[in-house]
Amino acid sequence: MNTLKAVRGTRDLLPPETELWHHVEATARRVFARYNFGEIRTPIFEDTLLFARGVGEETDIVSKEMYTFTPADDVGREARGQDRGRAASDKAQSLTLRPENTAGVVRAYIEHKLGETGLLQKLYYMGPQFRRERPQKGRYRQFFQIGAEVIGPPSAGSESPLRDAEVLEMLASFLDELGVTGWRLAINSVGSAADRPRYLAALREALAAVAGSLCGDCQHRAHTNPLRVLDCKVPADQPVIDALPKIADYLDDASRAHFAAVCAALDRCGVRYELNARLVRGIDYYTRTTFEFTHDAGLGTQNALLGGGRYDGLSEMLGGPRAPGIGFAIGADRLVLTLQSQAGGAAAPSKADVFLAPVGEAQNPAALVLARELRRSGLRVELGDGSFRVKKSFELADKLARRIVLLGEDEVASGMLTVKNFATGEQQKVVRGELATALSGA
Ligand code: HAM
Repeated sequence: MNTLKAVRGTRDLLPPETELWHHVEATARRVFARYNFGEIRTPIFEDTLLFARGVGEETDIVSKEMYTFTPADDVGREARGQDRGRAASDKAQSLTLRPENTAGVVRAYIEHKLGETGLLQKLYYMGPQFRRERPQKGRYRQFFQIGAEVIGPPSAGSESPLRDAEVLEMLASFLDELGVTGWRLAINSVGSAADRPRYLAALREALAAVAGSLCGDCQHRAHTNPLRVLDCKVPADQPVIDALPKIADYLDDASRAHFAAVCAALDRCGVRYELNARLVRGIDYYTRTTFEFTHDAGLGTQNALLGGGRYDGLSEMLGGPRAPGIGFAIGADRLVLTLQSQAGGAAAPSKADVFLAPVGEAQNPAALVLARELRRSGLRVELGDGSFRVKKSFELADKLARRIVLLGEDEVASGMLTVKNFATGEQQKVVRGELATALSGA
């Protein structure tokens, strides 16, 4: 029989790598809390319409990459008799594994009428997202994002350029606090809903003259979604794309002033950035500010660590009230890869404080009691087994822990234990009541 493996584009995360994930997630929670964000958890699958409307029908995500369970699948299930007892309303709904979380957060904002609080909602999330992309290093079909959204009624200041600058400053602080060095921030403004038609008209006109010389995908995009041409990575297309009209030249005064204010606030607090006129990003909901943090070490071609931007019209696109917003999502897989490459490779497993080795099976229960005491005092304890020979206990202990304590009949009777420290080779006799203190040092 073939052995079963994780599905292409998915992977298992194992210790000790998961320790690094905990560190990244704990740092994010700590930093975001300082900016007064709270956590939101939205469902992993949603109505397909949410992404079609929010992310955009013509985007790669919606047109090619979603994991969708269509009503047709349901017909098949029904034929196989797997549908007994399901409500008719469930059967007709097309469902999709979320490819991103912003649309879900805005749906929840609308559904729970969070706008009626009159307050700015500052929400962060962590969790798996799903896109059927071609897997490669840093690009998976199930990947993890750590993201945040700031959204609210205009009266709460949700449109203010200060919000954009604050989010970017928070990200810079987060990466600095994690110790990521060498990140780069690129920003752009893609204009408001009012600016976009003027720019698109100019872009379409320019593309009509040159599209024939671009790659097949771009020829298609030139008709369906011309902004996406600016995302093209095909080397031969680059000089032609660089010569296309720039969105910055089509912003109205209000959009221009908004972007200038974002840049001025970043300058003032010393967050470094580059302007990138082609940064339109692959999702349709963006308006005004867009940004990406990249990192060149360890990521290969998938060098975008995180991306985000403003989406002032998204709530209305989803049938909600006016609720401008800005947010980002960090590719946690890519962030972990970056930290690993900075550290010079995979993390070494960290060791337990002590390996407790019962000598003889009769001592197993007493060893469990001692392990329980030590663990309750906060120590990390690996418990051996009395059936192991002492030599085997030492070998295991050396791999798994920084010290070993043997627990034989004599030790149980006398309450006097010997602690051996592997790093120093030192041995120390300790009375049982002082063992936890003796083990808590380095
Ligand atoms: P996005 O640019 O599609 O934006 O994704 C954000 C980040 O997720 C990327 O920069 C990348 O690090 C990571 N990512 C995307 N696809 C994959 C993949 N297949 N494998 C590994 N990592 C991946 C969004 O998702 C928006 N919702 C961000 C946002 C929030 N905009 C406003 N608010």
